[in-house]
Amino acid sequence: MLSAPITQNSIADHQSLTIRSHGNLALQGRIRVPGDKSISHRALMLGALAEGETQIEGLLLGEDPRSTAACFQAMGAIISELNSQRVTVQGIGLGNLREPDDVLNAGNSGTTMRLMLGILASHAGRFFTVTGDQSLRSRPMSRVIQPLQQMGATIWSRQGGFAPLAVQGQPLKSFHYHSPIASAQVKSCILLAGLATEGKTTVTEPALSRDHSERMLRAFGAEVLVDPETCSATVVGPARLTGQSVVVPGDISSAAFWLVAGAIVPGSDLVIENVGVNPTRTGILDALAAMEANVTLENQRQVAGEPVADLRVRHSSLQACTIAGDLVPRLIDEIPILAVAAAFARGTTVIRDAAELRVKESDRIAVMAAQLTRMGAQVSERPDGLEITGGSLLKGAEVDSHTDHRIAMSLAIAALNAQGSTTIHRAEAASISYPDFVKTLESLLANG
Ligand code: S3P
Repeated sequence: MLSAPITQNSIADHQSLTIRSHGNLALQGRIRVPGDKSISHRALMLGALAEGETQIEGLLLGEDPRSTAACFQAMGAIISELNSQRVTVQGIGLGNLREPDDVLNAGNSGTTMRLMLGILASHAGRFFTVTGDQSLRSRPMSRVIQPLQQMGATIWSRQGGFAPLAVQGQPLKSFHYHSPIASAQVKSCILLAGLATEGKTTVTEPALSRDHSERMLRAFGAEVLVDPETCSATVVGPARLTGQSVVVPGDISSAAFWLVAGAIVPGSDLVIENVGVNPTRTGILDALAAMEANVTLENQRQVAGEPVADLRVRHSSLQACTIAGDLVPRLIDEIPILAVAAAFARGTTVIRDAAELRVKESDRIAVMAAQLTRMGAQVSERPDGLEITGGSLLKGAEVDSHTDHRIAMSLAIAALNAQGSTTIHRAEAASISYPDFVKTLESLLANG
């Protein structure tokens, strides 16, 4: 009898995930993915800053939004127990956050730390300290500290702009920031600082990054102007936010693992229901179309200000493609899983203009190159991306997530199509954005 294809083991504080494949692990069924991580953070934050009650349906219950909820609870917002049906946030009104009596801990979450800094910096008269886990304490915060300082903020950091940080809230000046990077975290930080600031605060980016903050700020009652031509967004302050009902769609960044799994594993045919398809996030669909994947959008609709669809994927043979330029911010979190797709595509896929990957939860360029190489893929690192020549047979190996959730899940998908047994160390990292990843994988395999 064949042994079960998936086993999980605990080693001290860590878990490993072993996947045994003989090229027979087809995925079939209809699934839902957890709520969008970016939208979940913003719903909790704006809910805390609004007057009145915010109700959130479909919140992601991963570790990252839990960090956001804990930070804002420590500053006086009343947040109900987190569950995906309905979370309520009793907001305390813009400018009314309480000075916390302990360090705010953003855990592994760059979005929590960077967006929150814009809010804290503009809370006049209050003092805050902010830290995070080992990964977050090594990620650059100067990208938000510098523009906030130009608005008049007082922020101290470790040498080089790393957390732990200290913030003395101040009245800020409105400002037009020309960001050198397309980053929704930078843009959102400055727009959130602009909420409490008299006049227009504008961010112009070199390419358009995800626009969830602009959409949600508007829904909560702030005046927000956007100019897609110049990739600019403006908030007019001081704003007043009112509690809202937010429906969080499924996260396309989590759906991406199943899209690639369905595309590369022979015999697969699956539907991922209720996925957010905001055009600033659908670069993965464009890249998979360029790779000749068989992905279709069904039942397209609008839910609470965000476009949503069901995505169907069926196995097909893939072609190499180039991922570069303005496409990159639209799929920045999906590059690790696209690297897996590229390892099974005909020809050489080139990923460039993606140096930002080096400062994510891990150095995703170096880590993906090393781990896929261990599995027998032909991968080379570029300073700003990867080159992957597909077509070699991947083999089972011992690989490591480097505590990065997207790396853990990308390697699990690669393992489905590798010959033999693959063990992914520190696989528990997946719970940052997808606590039920293994359960969903098991259910798809049971149908296949
Ligand atoms: C996010 C923006 C992106 C993305 C991150 C979430 C957000 O980061 O990688 O996972 O919610 O604003 P950058 O803004 O640093 O590119």
